[in-house]
Amino acid sequence: MIVLGIETSCDETACAIVDDARGIRANVVLSQLDEHRPYGGVVPEVAARAHLHYLDGLIRQALDEAHLDLGQVDAIAATGGPGLIGGVIVGVMTAKAMAAARGLPFVAVNHLEGHALTARLTDDVPFPYLLLLVSGGHCQLLEVEGVGRYRRLGTTIDDAVGEAFDKTAKLLGLGYPGGPLLEKAAQKATNPGRFDLPAPMKGRPDCDFSFSGLKTAVRRHVEQLGTPTEADVADLAAAFHHAVGQSLLDRCDRAIKAFKGRHPADEQGGGRHLVVAGGVAANKYLREQLAKLAAKRGLTFTAPPLALCTDNAAMIAWAGLERFRLGQTDGLDFAPRPRWPL
Ligand code: KG4
Ligand code: ZN
Repeated sequence: MIVLGIETSCDETACAIVDDARGIRANVVLSQLDEHRPYGGVVPEVAARAHLHYLDGLIRQALDEAHLDLGQVDAIAATGGPGLIGGVIVGVMTAKAMAAARGLPFVAVNHLEGHALTARLTDDVPFPYLLLLVSGGHCQLLEVEGVGRYRRLGTTIDDAVGEAFDKTAKLLGLGYPGGPLLEKAAQKATNPGRFDLPAPMKGRPDCDFSFSGLKTAVRRHVEQLGTPTEADVADLAAAFHHAVGQSLLDRCDRAIKAFKGRHPADEQGGGRHLVVAGGVAANKYLREQLAKLAAKRGLTFTAPPLALCTDNAAMIAWAGLERFRLGQTDGLDFAPRPRWPL
C-alpha cells in the first residue's frame, strides 16, 4: 500500500510518499523561510502564492525520487486543516484533482493527527500512548487511543509553546524563526542560572499550559537591561529554556498519572509510551528533559527524528495511510477547514 501526501498548511510546501511497511519512499520539503523573513513571520497571502507556485514541481520530484508513477500510488492524502486557509485550499484542490483524474481515493488529514501519528511511522508505538504535541500553533497533551480517537488532557490557555519561542526570540533580537535561534543562543550561556523566570502553571491541578506570562517576564528583564549584550541574551535564552522545561515536565507528569490510571501497560505494548511531536520537539534540551521524566515514570520516550518533528508531508502521507487502511476516506466535496480540533 502506497500513499502520496501533501502538506501546505503553513510555510512549508511538502510532498512525500510512504508505504505500509513504514518505508518513506520520498520526503520533499521546501521551506518558504526566505519569502517570509523580511516580515518577521508568516504572511498568509505570500504563503498561499508560494504553495501554488512550487507544489506541482515538488510532487513531480517526490514521484521521481521514489521511482514511482502516479499509477502505482493507492491513495492521495492532503492536509485538510487546521491552518492558513489559502495554503490548505491549494493542497486540498491539488490532491482532489489528482484523485479525480486517476480515480484514486482521497484522504483529508488533520494536520495535528499527522503530528500525533508520526511516531508510528518511525517507531513501533502501539495504541494507546500519551502524546505531548508542541508546535507553533498548538500545545496539547493527548491520550492517543487509536486512529481518530484522541482524549485531550490539557491545552494552552494563551500562547502555544512554539509561539512563545518565536515571540521571545524576537524580543531578544534573534530574528525569525525563533525556536532554533533561541536554542542556539541558550547553548552559549555562561551563567544559565543568572535570571530566574517563573515556570508557568507549575503545581496547578490540571494539565493546561500558559506561556504569555513567561514572555512578559523576559520582556521586563530586557527593558531593565536596556541594550542586552550577547551574553545577556544567551543567559536569558537559557533561563527561558529552563522555565519552559519545568512547566512542560510538571504538566506531563500530571498527565502521566492520569494516563496510567486509565491505560495500564498491556501485553500488546500499549500504555507504555510518552511521545513528543510538533516543531518544538526538535529542541534537544526539552527532548532530554522529557526523556528523563519518562524513564523515571517507567515509560518509553519516543520522539520522531528532527526532520519529522517540524512540518513535513511524510506525516500527512502516513496519517492518510493509517486512515485509508481503516477505510476512512473522504469525498471530493470535502471543504478545507481553517479550524479543526482533534
Ligand atoms: O510543527 P511546526 O513545524 O509548525 C506548526 O504546525 O506550528 O512547528 C513550528 C514551531 C515554531 O514555533 C518554531 O519556532 C518551533 O516549532 N521550533 C522550535 C525548534 N525548531 C522549531 N522550537 C524550539 N526549539 C527548536 N529547535
Ligand atoms: Zn505542524
